[in-house]
Amino acid sequence: MLPANFHKQLVEEGFCYLDMPLTLKQQIVRLFDLTADFFEMPQAQKSKISWVDVMTGYRSIGIEYSATPDNPDLNESFSYKNVEEKRVFVDNFLYAREFLNQVKTVYLEMDKIATEVIVHLAKQYTDNARHIHTDLHSWLQLNSYRPHMHQREFLQDEHEDGHIVTIITANQKGLELRGNKGYHNVKGSLDELVVMPGELLSLLTGNDIMPLHHRVRNHSDVKLRMAMMYFCNPNTNEGPLMPWVENDTNKGVDIIARATSNPSRYGLPVL
Ligand SMILES: [Fe+2]
Repeated sequence: MLPANFHKQLVEEGFCYLDMPLTLKQQIVRLFDLTADFFEMPQAQKSKISWVDVMTGYRSIGIEYSATPDNPDLNESFSYKNVEEKRVFVDNFLYAREFLNQVKTVYLEMDKIATEVIVHLAKQYTDNARHIHTDLHSWLQLNSYRPHMHQREFLQDEHEDGHIVTIITANQKGLELRGNKGYHNVKGSLDELVVMPGELLSLLTGNDIMPLHHRVRNHSDVKLRMAMMYFCNPNTNEGPLMPWVENDTNKGVDIIARATSNPSRYGLPVL
């Protein structure tokens, strides 16, 4: 499903669109419905599926990706990391089981796309890359914004995510990409996915592909914006990860250690 010029676009534009497979679109539409239902539950029920020591779980409006703690990101979110599945697939959370099942279904589908992306990119640089499994320490995140309730210019300050890639779709406008040729506004459609390179991909490619900075603009005419991100990370229990291209930019960098610590840049638990 990758476009023929996928690698070239990542290098030259800084990002790349993918067509959304129809089956996956249907699964995400269902997931967004279930997510909306979940976020409408009483705060007490949502807060039960919430922890500070793991990525998985519900978060109310918080400081993730914000440049300063007094400028919090204006979204509530739910994250799911597969290695933490035992936290959520327990009888205590049967009231959210349909939602959780759909989260995991979409997680596994998104991981197939992420794997295709990584295998394709590795081949552009080397024939000897070890396979990078990503089905444990990646996480799927669902964000819900109510832009019309806020005055701020940006719902999320500019940042890069710090993963191998982030693969994102959203049902509304707002995402702005600082590509290599200037800012690009993503229109927001479930008919497309956007692949956004992160710092780990820069380390793997010796800075041939650079991290994509992005932000979320507040549009006061949007009542509800839902976004789904697959934050793709290498499994951290499969030994060291050597760069596909080694040069001065990545010499001696432990990519697994960087992957592990990067979420702490945003006040999140390490991998
Ligand atoms: Fe981001």
